[in-house]
Amino acid sequence: MKYAVIGTGKLGTTYATAIAQAGLDLVIGARDPSHSAALAKTLGGEVEGGGICAAVKLADVILIALPYPATRDAMRKASDQIDLAGKILVDISNPVTPDYQDLQVGPHTSAAEALQADLPGTVVVKAFNTILAQLVPPEARVGRQLQVFLASDDDGARRQVAALATALDFRAVDAGPLRNSRYLESVGMMNIQFAFFLGAGTATAPAWSHA
Ligand SMILES: NC(=O)c1ccc[n+]([C@@H]2O[C@H](COP(=O)([O-])OP(=O)(O)OC[C@H]3O[C@@H](n4cnc5c(N)ncnc54)[C@H](OP(=O)(O)O)[C@@H]3O)[C@@H](O)[C@H]2O)c1
Repeated sequence: MKYAVIGTGKLGTTYATAIAQAGLDLVIGARDPSHSAALAKTLGGEVEGGGICAAVKLADVILIALPYPATRDAMRKASDQIDLAGKILVDISNPVTPDYQDLQVGPHTSAAEALQADLPGTVVVKAFNTILAQLVPPEARVGRQLQVFLASDDDGARRQVAALATALDFRAVDAGPLRNSRYLESVGMMNIQFAFFLGAGTATAPAWSHA
């Protein structure tokens, strides 16, 4: 199984680092391939870095760490150039407005559902959107097992991304069909409110508790 991380910003860098440190097979893609090549070089070993299309082409599971709607634009452009059929696209986005006070999509749909509608041959899994970049490194959450909520219409793809979450020391939580992304994106927005506007700080993360 080969993983791609698309984007070399805060989240792309932290996930690429965590995935490489977990010993998984990784390629990094960015619109400026010099950024992905530089990040890959810091991770050493077998990690490759290149353009977005090249990375998507090589990978089975693609974690897209771009802002919304760049996520949709980048994947649509990739689909014009390569066959994306069967690829698992992991949508980690919180489609927030520039002032972080509203969601750009919803409440009756979501960024993840829009991505799936754009690319029906792929399988979209919503995941990781409720985990802030500061909590991605396993060493930043010693003694805590954070939950990663996964929504998808494909059980096999959800299991595959759950395995990735587990490999990164998270607890994978089945959050049902892809349409539940519209609720997960609201939870992600609330997490941002706690972390950045209500004083909880960036070590905050939501958890679901069952009796
Ligand atoms: N940061 C968090 O804690 C966090 C938590 C959960 C979810 N998320 C989600 O993760 C995604 C990325 O967030 P981030 O914090 O990593 O953002 P960021 O630090 O601003 O990085 C954004 C990345 O996207 C690339 N990019 C921007 N516009 C692009 C375009 N039109 N085409 C191709 N690449 C483009 C940038 O490339 P350049 O370097 O070339 O500009 C950069 O690599 C967002 O959807 C966000 O909602 C973030």
